[in-house]
Amino acid sequence: VDPSLDLVAAINQLKKEKNAVILAHYYQESEIQDVADYIGDSLGLSQQAASTDADIIVFAGVHFMAETAKMLSPSKKVLLPDLKAGCSLADSCPAPVFRKFKEKYPDHKVVSYINCTAELKTLTDVCCTSTNAKYIIDSFPADQPLIFAPDINLGRWLVKETGRDMVLWNGSCMVHEIFSHEKITKLKIKHPNAAFIAHPECESHILDAADHVGSTSSLLRFTRESKYQEFIVATESGILHQMIKDSPGKTFIPAPPNNACACNDCPHMKRNTMEKLYTCMKYELPEIHLEDWVIEKGRASIDRMLEISA
Ligand code: 13P
Ligand code: SF4
Repeated sequence: VDPSLDLVAAINQLKKEKNAVILAHYYQESEIQDVADYIGDSLGLSQQAASTDADIIVFAGVHFMAETAKMLSPSKKVLLPDLKAGCSLADSCPAPVFRKFKEKYPDHKVVSYINCTAELKTLTDVCCTSTNAKYIIDSFPADQPLIFAPDINLGRWLVKETGRDMVLWNGSCMVHEIFSHEKITKLKIKHPNAAFIAHPECESHILDAADHVGSTSSLLRFTRESKYQEFIVATESGILHQMIKDSPGKTFIPAPPNNACACNDCPHMKRNTMEKLYTCMKYELPEIHLEDWVIEKGRASIDRMLEISA
């Protein structure tokens, strides 16, 4: 890409020319969020993917999100700026292994966090996101046994919140597992008036210390609406961009990781760049392709989620 090119103007031009819509997750770099037509959490992005009348969906997020968009809008072209933008959580639950695991629990229904592969969705009864997970689980009769996959941390939090025992798959997100309880405690002592807020993909001992636990949109709302002026934020650092934009007078401190070499950036989310966004729109590549049976079977689990949470 010519370094003198005004990428924002060029991307906006391509959007118009191609009737394309850019959907961006809160964990994307700030410039991408600013050029997007819609910024949101996984639930909001799925709802947008299901309802858009654009011809092309450009998904500024990770692979499983673009797959979800393709399942919801199979006739549309779905582009992902970097096909290697994967997800450690989705990778922690390979469908063939899960299929065998599921066979051990023939009476159980499967609720899967949307952060999973399209193939795992074909083995799922209902998907959920961190925004609607409690609601989805509560929608099953109390005597219906459930398997929850793939995130064990979100699963443990849901068991606590819903009071319902579930069989949990042992997967996790590499970004939300790095937070240091010790360093957060020290930071809280240094900032006694700060609220400590955390995403439910964090480990239980971190969540137990939090003043508020919620999805990215819930954390964002909390920073906007609560009386606190200072926040220690345990989730991917991309969300800080919208927090600062929404509440410019407030202070946001990323929660410290346990290792000095680690950071709160998701390496998968951050594979997308403005340059890649531009070239992907210009050449309409890389495109997401899914087999018909995957679309049909996987989509049913997302449709059920959208129906229940509508
Ligand atoms: P939400 O934005 O739905 O809370 O998801 C968080 C996440 O880890 C996405 O990869
Ligand atoms: Fe996956 Fe975690 Fe990155 Fe989200 S933040 S895409 S769950 S690795």
